[in-house]
Amino acid sequence: MQIILFGSPGVGKGTQAKILSSKLNIPHISTGDILRQAVKDKTPLGIEAQKIMDKGNLVPDEVMFGIIKETLQKPECKKGFILDGYPRSRAQAVSLDKMFEELNFGSVCLLAITADEEELVKRLANRRACRVCHNIFSYSDIKDTDTCPSCGAKNSFYLRDDDTEKVIRHRMEVYKSNTAPVLEYYQKLDKVIFINGDAPVEQVTLNILSALDKKMKKQAATSA
Ligand code: AP5
Repeated sequence: MQIILFGSPGVGKGTQAKILSSKLNIPHISTGDILRQAVKDKTPLGIEAQKIMDKGNLVPDEVMFGIIKETLQKPECKKGFILDGYPRSRAQAVSLDKMFEELNFGSVCLLAITADEEELVKRLANRRACRVCHNIFSYSDIKDTDTCPSCGAKNSFYLRDDDTEKVIRHRMEVYKSNTAPVLEYYQKLDKVIFINGDAPVEQVTLNILSALDKKMKKQAATSA
């Protein structure tokens, strides 16, 4: 199963991708996480990407093509994967289609998660991640502890550099101008399922699993 989790910054792509990856036993590929690791490791890619990410802009398509191609060729991706944060431009979507053909992958399903924009600004300003296990939390859930509930690490919570209100709002604008056309591209191919991301995390997961189940049953019925 090849899934693209799509939507505005803060809509819950990373949160849902982690849950689905464990439930469906397929890898979670987050281009944001790959870039943040490169920044942490101070690789040439990381040094270049950091300036772009800190402003909330997009890393150039040509750089992203190489990263995603290398990742999708890994053996663990053969059984399926969840893409989080890719594609983010029409050019990335077109090149991903070509990669799917070259690598003989089946068809992809894009889950477009939607939610109220002002709510998302609040969510991002309140987001904290664990430096050790990379799990994501809301500040309100961890404000009374210094221990990560997922891995037990001490004093490991941090606020992302691009989660200041000014940069969050810029990322939202970049999403509308550069990334929203990706949705039209996949809608024309009839590959989009909309998911209400305003609901609590557990409910969003249930809605996604039910939508995927329906889609698979429909596919099985048409191919029978
Ligand atoms: P990336 O890391 O992909 O950031 P993003 O798309 O802005 O998405 P976020 O990670 O901010 O949000 P999310 O939807 O994953 O929400 P989350 O689950 O964390 O990219 C960062 C940067 O890298 C980009 O700006 C760009 O520079 C570069 N980049 C990456 N990919 C690229 C590409 N393909 N091309 C070019 N450049 C690229 O949830 C947010 C918060 O809400 C959390 O606190 C969570 O606990 C909470 N929450 C989640 N769901 C719910 C819910 N249902 N109800 C209440 N709270 C919730």
